[in-house]
Amino acid sequence: MAEPENTYPIDPENAGELARLMQQDRLLTEGMGGLLPEPGITLPERGRVLDLACGPGGWALELAFQYPKAEVIGIDISRQVIEYARAQAWSRGLENAHFEVMNVMEPLAFEDGSFDLINARLMCAFMLPGAWPKLLAECYRLLKPGGIVRLTETEGPWCSSLATEQYWGLIYEAFKRAGQSFSPNGRRMGISPVLPRLVRQAGFEEVRVRSSIIEWSMGTEAHYAVFKDYLLGFELIQPFLVKMGMATKEELQRLYQQAVAEMQQDDFCALWPLITVWGHKPPAADEDEPETREEEAQPRAEVEG
Ligand SMILES: C[S@@+](CC[C@H](N)C(=O)[O-])C[C@H]1O[C@@H](n2cnc3c(N)ncnc32)[C@H](O)[C@@H]1O
Repeated sequence: MAEPENTYPIDPENAGELARLMQQDRLLTEGMGGLLPEPGITLPERGRVLDLACGPGGWALELAFQYPKAEVIGIDISRQVIEYARAQAWSRGLENAHFEVMNVMEPLAFEDGSFDLINARLMCAFMLPGAWPKLLAECYRLLKPGGIVRLTETEGPWCSSLATEQYWGLIYEAFKRAGQSFSPNGRRMGISPVLPRLVRQAGFEEVRVRSSIIEWSMGTEAHYAVFKDYLLGFELIQPFLVKMGMATKEELQRLYQQAVAEMQQDDFCALWPLITVWGHKPPAADEDEPETREEEAQPRAEVEG
């Protein structure tokens, strides 16, 4: 079988990337205040949830644990992360969590109207701008009437380290050169401002936006976790930067060392902004009033966040 086309700038089968994503998942869930912290996002008692580009499955697994009557399916292009997520589901006895290898830029192998919630976090690194409307149309098709799509993206960090900002500058520019950016000038990813419009254009209603900000300045709780994420991420993305002609390997290595040193300075300050956009598929015309709908799921326990 032919391998699916891959636009992710890091080799998704790399073991270092798996380790990085495992840590990043916890950081994101905690930094955003939990699994589903947005007002008005609820799951029916036996809700079905799809997590797109789920990585090693941390969010999906935790949701399956918290909502034992729900069914959670995670999909990702990487065989390695899917095998890892399956092993985690098995070892934790989570029979309501399933994982499949799938490319989210292609039609998804699920039936119409089969999910109550579709979630995705950090897809902008591989999604081509033209692929977003197609994926959102797929989400609309896959959701039940009244179902919710929930997307979280980032523009990268704001920080006081010149070398770190320069490194991110090269990453944004490389995405622009690769045709994987919404930014008009290649100075940001550019996904955040357009995401609510994309969701509305796909037919979703009551589209809302919420931001979460993780402070990871030196001395804060999140500093070491985000620092480690960059330590690995900056190194893993080097082949992509070289391929896009941003700098030589040696130049990147020098900038990398400088960024690593600056991120560990006592006066280092940094924020990581995340934007969540969610919207509802309109309810079916003859649907009952909300109070007569299926009971909402009660989570097993409150998630700390
Ligand atoms: C930044 S990670 C996502 C992290 C995860 N959503 C989370 O919240 O922890 C990006 C993931 O996208 C996956 N990916 C890349 N291209 C993809 C594609 N075309 N279809 C599905 N998954 C893809 C990668 O294998 C990787 O696991």
